[in-house]
Amino acid sequence: MKVFIAGGRGQVGARVAEALAKRGVEVIVGSRANGQDPMTGDGLDAAMIGVDTIVNVLNIARFDDEAAVFFETTTRNLVRAGDGAGVGHHVLLSIVGVDAEDGPDNGYWRGKIAQEQVLRSSSTPATIIRTTQFHSWVPVLADQHTADGRVVAERSLIQPVDLDEVVELIERATLITEPADREIELAGPERYFFDDLLRGTLAAMDDRREIVTTACDGPIDLMVPRGEHLIGTRPYPVRGIPTA
Ligand SMILES: NC(=O)c1ccc[n+]([C@@H]2O[C@H](COP(=O)([O-])OP(=O)(O)OC[C@H]3O[C@@H](n4cnc5c(N)ncnc54)[C@H](OP(=O)(O)O)[C@@H]3O)[C@@H](O)[C@H]2O)c1
Repeated sequence: MKVFIAGGRGQVGARVAEALAKRGVEVIVGSRANGQDPMTGDGLDAAMIGVDTIVNVLNIARFDDEAAVFFETTTRNLVRAGDGAGVGHHVLLSIVGVDAEDGPDNGYWRGKIAQEQVLRSSSTPATIIRTTQFHSWVPVLADQHTADGRVVAERSLIQPVDLDEVVELIERATLITEPADREIELAGPERYFFDDLLRGTLAAMDDRREIVTTACDGPIDLMVPRGEHLIGTRPYPVRGIPTA
């Protein structure tokens, strides 16, 4: 089996590449550094020769319109190149809540929605994996919510998941030999209030930033699964935080 990983040098992609290589899969690590630019499409056709499955774990750290354009354009370019080479399966990493109609209105979210739509309207089978926030991402969320030295956190629900379990799920989905359109959700075993999670996490890191709780400006359950989903077994590494 031959797999192209778009974003193969990234946080998730590098781990998926390592896991698949251990299984004897021939892995093409997609990266601008390796000659593939998913925005322009440069280098994709050549890289797709003989590829069975494309794993899309691209990311862009922005929330404006450029993020929306990035996710949609790169996914279209991957589908086009894959179709040209006879690729039989796309595996996309998305986020729990992206399919909901009451999500936030920012470019990142719109881009993730567009990615899913591009794959749904493609004739090639696609596995869309939506997960909650990674355990390791919680301190980054604290930074993203910091203003004037204080962390402003909504009283909303969050159910973070261990990154290794995300990688294992992507690996299993990629190794499927008879792919069909599927949508899978994965969350961690414990549900928290966001402000409590940040408070407990920062305290464990001896980070003295004040956490200011605010009322939820939208649905309280957007970031947690609302329907059928898989539940990881690995607990959040900081213990003693009250669950919701
Ligand atoms: N963080 C979470 O808690 C979480 C939860 C659920 C789902 N996800 C999803 O997981 C996916 C992967 O996240 P990640 O943290 O592994 O990503 P990442 O490491 O931030 O980035 C992955 C790759 O994207 C490529 N990239 C970034 N900017 C680019 C640009 N302007 N043009 C072309 N390529 C660009 C880079 O590839 P090169 O520089 O090598 O070209 C990078 O290695 C994302 O789609 C995210 O939505 C994340």
